[in-house]
This record gives sequence, C-alpha cells and structure tokens, in this order.
Amino acid sequence: MSTSESTPPISTAIDSLRGRLRAIDQEHLLSFWEELPPHDRRTLVDQVEALDLEAIPDLVTTYVRGQPHAPTPDTLEPAPFYPQDPSSKSRPWDASAARAAGESLIRAGKVACFTVAGGQGSRLGYDGPKGCYPAGAVSRKPLFQIFAEGILASQREYETTIPWYIMTSPLNDAQTRSFFDSQHYFGLDRSQVVFFPQGVMPSFDAGSGRILLASKSTLATNPDGHGGSFRALVESGATADMRARGVEHVSYFQVDNPLVRAVNPLFLGLHIGAPDSSGEMSSKMVAKRDPHEPVGLFCLADGTLDMIEYSDLPKDLAEARNPDGSLRFAAGNPAIHAMSVAFIERIHGDPRFALPFHRAVKKVSHVDPDTGDAVDPSEPNAVKLERFVFDAMGRAGSSIILETDRIEEFGPIKNAEGNDSPQTSAQLQTERAARWLATVGVDIPRRPDGTPDCLLEISAATALEPADLAGAKLPTSIEPGSSHLI
Ligand code: UD1
Repeated sequence: MSTSESTPPISTAIDSLRGRLRAIDQEHLLSFWEELPPHDRRTLVDQVEALDLEAIPDLVTTYVRGQPHAPTPDTLEPAPFYPQDPSSKSRPWDASAARAAGESLIRAGKVACFTVAGGQGSRLGYDGPKGCYPAGAVSRKPLFQIFAEGILASQREYETTIPWYIMTSPLNDAQTRSFFDSQHYFGLDRSQVVFFPQGVMPSFDAGSGRILLASKSTLATNPDGHGGSFRALVESGATADMRARGVEHVSYFQVDNPLVRAVNPLFLGLHIGAPDSSGEMSSKMVAKRDPHEPVGLFCLADGTLDMIEYSDLPKDLAEARNPDGSLRFAAGNPAIHAMSVAFIERIHGDPRFALPFHRAVKKVSHVDPDTGDAVDPSEPNAVKLERFVFDAMGRAGSSIILETDRIEEFGPIKNAEGNDSPQTSAQLQTERAARWLATVGVDIPRRPDGTPDCLLEISAATALEPADLAGAKLPTSIEPGSSHLI
C-alpha cells in the first residue's frame, strides 16, 4: 500500500478493517492498535491488507483445525518413468531425437533456468543464503557460482542467452542480491539474472486458529513454500519478462544440489517431445538408495501422478519389494523439473488449479494478544502452511518422468553431517569426475572398497558431460590422496 497523500487517513480505514477482521475471528491482530506509534500502525495495516482475508476462515477450517487426508496406500501405484537406458526393454525411447529437440529449444533462446533459493539453511547450520555456501569439492566455489558456470558453459555451447530467475525469500533477498553484486554475477550479464522474493503465509496458533503476532505491530509469517513460486513468478513480473525474452520453458532446480545440470538438452527435449508429455511439467527421478531415504516418492494416486513426501510414506509401502527384490516404490525425487511458462501462468491464474497447502506444526515465539507478554513456547504451538511445487504435476495434461543417475545429477547439501552433507556431496562430485575421467583414459586411484582415493571436481567451464573432456588439459596421473580441480 502506498503512503502517498492520496491514501485515505488510516484512522478512517481502521474501523472497516476491524470489522472485516472481526467477521473472520481475527480481530485480535489489532489488540494493541491504540498504543502503536503511526509508523507501526502503517506496518501492521499493510501486512494485514496484504493477506487474502476472505480465504482465512477456510484455511483455518481445512488446515489448522482439520488435517487433510493423505492418499490411502491401497490407491497407490509406482509411477511410470522413462528409464535412463533408452534401449531398455521395459520402455525403449529415442534419446537422440530428444536431445536434438532439446538442443534446438535451447539454441532458439526458449529456455531459462529457475532456482528456488528461498529456504533457510537451518539444517546445515549455515548463516546466510544457502546459495552462498562453499560447495565445490575442491574449489569450495559457492553453489550459485557452480550453477552460473553451468549456465555460461551452456550459453557458449548453444550460442544463446539463458536467463536465470532466482526465487529468494524476504529474509534472504537483499543478501542474495548483494552476494551476486560482490561476485560480479560470476561472469553472467547482470541483465540476465532476475531475483524476486517468494510470498509469505501467516503462522496460526494451532489451538485457536488465530494468526500469531510476532510483535504488537507485526504478524508472525513463514515463507509459503516452493509451491509459492507459481504466484511469485507471475506477480513479480518474471513470467512477463520470460515472454518478452521469448522464453517458453524453464529448467527448475533447487539451490542445494551442486551436481544438477542446469540446462539439460535431453530432459528438455523429452519434456517437449515425448508422445505422452503435454510439455507442461516434467520431472527427473533417481532410484532411492534405501527404503527410508528422505526424498519424495513419485507414485500414481488413483491414477494421477503424485508425490508422497518421505514424512508421509507409510513404513510398509516404503519397504515393499518386487518379486526380484527391488523396491516396489523406488522413484525418488531429486527436485529437478521442466515447466512451460504457459503452465506456470495457468496454475497461478486459474483457481481450479490452485495447489493445496501442507501443514507443519512448529514452535513460533509470539506476543500474547490478551496480555501483550512475549511467549517463547517450549512445545510446537503453531501451524505453518506451505505449498509444494510438485503438487502441480497432477494438474498437467500429461506429465512425464525421466530416470537419472544419482552420481550424475544428485549430490545435495542439506545437513551439516551424515547423509546429504558437504562430505557426501564432495564424494559424489569426486565419483562423477572419476567416472568421466576414466572415459578418456585417466587412471583413478581407488581404495579397497572401490571409492576414489582422491578429491576431484570438474568445472562446468571444462566439461558439461564426458565427451567435452576430449581435448581438455587433464592431469596425466592422479596420486592417491591428491586433489584436482579440472
Ligand atoms: C525436498 C523435497 C523432496 C526431495 C528433496 C530432494 C520438499 C517438501 N521436499 O526436500 O521431495 O526429495 O528436496 O533434495 O520440497 N525452498 C524455497 N522456499 C520455501 C521452502 C523451500 O525456496 O519456502 C527451497 C529451498 O531453498 C530448497 C528447496 O526449496 O532449495 C527444498 O527445500 P527443503 O525444505 O530443503 O526440502 P527437503 O526437505 O530437503
């Protein structure tokens, strides 16, 4: 809301706002109105008016007091996918046609990258936007730089410009922008990088359904999940910007995965060209490393493509096996998608396609609206609502999945230690580099358990895939225990 002179005085508008809040049982948000200085009053009114007030009662009924049903296990089937090996008997497909289609799409300037970077690196214990985290196994390059180098290399290869859209959150937007500034956009043209913050949702008191006050003049809010990206992409003007540049499809990936191939011609080509793809939203999958790996699971729920989050997956389904001993539900989610711009606009613009919310009960400090006292709860007290991007898959006309190899494309950094940590990501980066180097005859020292006895990282500037290594300047030998940035 503008604070210009044309804005009606706040005192006349407040009675009407109070009435609207009373009607939805949220009048407590103005409990401290009388004692607030003018600036704080304005902050509060702006925050309240930014909410979709009419939608609040339904949200409270459905998600705060109620708990939406998860799909029942007996309606679930494994999701079909294109196997990584195109000559596989289970489902042969034409990889060279897919790659050619993807390459022409990229060359024609119709592809942009889109990174969701709004989450906090709290599990990692990193204080700053996660994209600034030093992730290169040898170089310690930050995640954002690794993606930037992938984009630069693809631009060179396809003689085009690949715009990059980055969704931040209100908490890390300014820091993210200044990091790019300080690093001179890692060699990208600053006009091709577009930042926009994602939206927020109010946090609700789990018992009463009332929105929590973070202070007497501010609401407690949380980022609205990566599913909030549909709204943020459209309302920030990012999709209009894509259209103005001639972009028709985006390559979507999370900020935490340094192994991702930011622009993948094979996947993009299958997305637009597979006979059973509507070219709206496609996904990659990796075979789960064990039944309880914390990744989402692609499946069919009542015949519709769906994702079951690891936290919602019943134990017996997670552990179910095929007669040959393989996992029955094996299609893990590395969070790599391709989406058309038209699809993004449709999901945001048409209420029939609105994505559901997912609830999480968390501890949220707040101000007691009756006494004004600060409350620091010892138990989870608040419902946070988020949307998930993958819930859009089932809204596409026909959405396809391509299997990929974990070592090639999935080495996320999520935890400070253990699985999905900087250490495991460095091992996967090394394993992939070792595999690529072996294709051009470089000997890799290995430990008795078969893992490389060295630390390796191949920059995207050197190679986007093994074939690019032919002709590259490579080490003649790799000593056990040595480190190489190639
Ligand atoms: C996520 C997926 C899981 C998948 C795994 C792969 C969800 C709910 N689950 O799990 O299915 O197998 O990644 O690595 O996403 N983000 C935002 N805004 C938000 C919340 C998140 O931009 O409001 C971004 C984060 O910056 C991050 C990504 O979304 O890039 C994933 O979020 P995170 O909460 O770390 O998901 P995971 O539990 O790791």
